[in-house]
Amino acid sequence: MALLQVDHMTHFFGGLRAVHDYNLSLEAGQIRGLIGPNGAGKTTVFNLLTGIHTPTEGHIHLDGQEITGKPPHRIASLGLARTFQNLCLWRHMTVLEHVKMARYSRISYGLIGAFFGTPKRHREEAAIEAKAHTLLQLVGIDHLADQVVVNLPYGAQRRVELARALAIEPKVLFLDEPTAGMNPEELVQMMEIIRRVHAEFDLAIYLIEHRLKMVMELCEVIQTLVFGEVVAEGPPEEIQTNPVVIEAYLGKEGVESSC
Ligand SMILES: Nc1ncnc2c1ncn2[C@@H]1O[C@H](COP(=O)(O)OP(=O)(O)OP(=O)(O)O)[C@@H](O)[C@H]1O
Ligand SMILES: [Mg+2]
Repeated sequence: MALLQVDHMTHFFGGLRAVHDYNLSLEAGQIRGLIGPNGAGKTTVFNLLTGIHTPTEGHIHLDGQEITGKPPHRIASLGLARTFQNLCLWRHMTVLEHVKMARYSRISYGLIGAFFGTPKRHREEAAIEAKAHTLLQLVGIDHLADQVVVNLPYGAQRRVELARALAIEPKVLFLDEPTAGMNPEELVQMMEIIRRVHAEFDLAIYLIEHRLKMVMELCEVIQTLVFGEVVAEGPPEEIQTNPVVIEAYLGKEGVESSC
C-alpha cells in the first residue's frame, strides 16, 4: 500500500457529483500534481483527503491506517498537512505565532507545567521557538517573524501557510495553488522553496496548480481531473501530449499557451 492510498472515492454535494471513483497512490517522497479546469473538483479532493468533508463512498489510508471520515486535526496529527487555495490565516497574529501554534500540538509539559512554568515547559517553549525560526528561514521570511500577517504582501502570506504546515512535521504535504496571485518573481521563488522543502524533509508532496509549466517541472506524475473524474494520469511528458488533456483542459494550442 502507498503512503497515501485512495480507493474508489466518490463525493456528492446534494445532487452534484463533485468527485467520482477517484484513486490515488502517493508514494513516500514523491511529488505529484493535480490539474484540471475550474470547478473540476481538485480542492474537493484535498478537502476529502484532509477530513474537511467525508466521502460519500470510498476509502483513504495514510501510512497503512484508515483515515476515512476522521476529523481534520486527527488526520493532521497522523502526518498530513496542507495549505489552502484561499489563504487561511489569523489576520492579527504574527508570523512567528502562526508557526509556533502549529507546534503546540506536540507539547508534552501539560497544564501543571504551563501553570507553574516548570523547567520542562521553558525547555519545550525554547525548542518550539527555535524550530519555528528554522522553518521561517527555510521559506525565507524569518526577518518578518514579528509582523502581523495582515501587513504582509500576498506572497509572504503564502509562505507563512507553508511554514505552518511544515511545523507539524508531516509525511505528506498538500499545496492548493501555492502560487495563486503571485507575480513571476514570487513564482520562481516559491518553486525554489518547494524544491528545498522536498529535499530537506523528503516529504511526499501533492500539488494543485493552474501554472502548468510549474507542474510539469516539479511533478513526477500528474493527474488530470475533469468534472470530478480522472481523465489522464502519467508523467509530464505524457500529460502534455495527451489529446484528452489538451482537448479538455489545455485548449487546442497545448501547454505553452496556457501558462
Ligand atoms: N462545500 C460545497 N458545497 C457545495 N458544492 C461545492 C462545495 N465545494 C465545492 N463545490 C462544488 O464542487 C465542484 C468542484 O469544486 P472545487 O472547488 O473542488 O473545484 P476546483 O477544481 O478546485 O476549482 P478551482 O480550480 O476553481 O479551484 C464545483 O462545482 C463547486 O461549486
Ligand atoms: Mg480549487
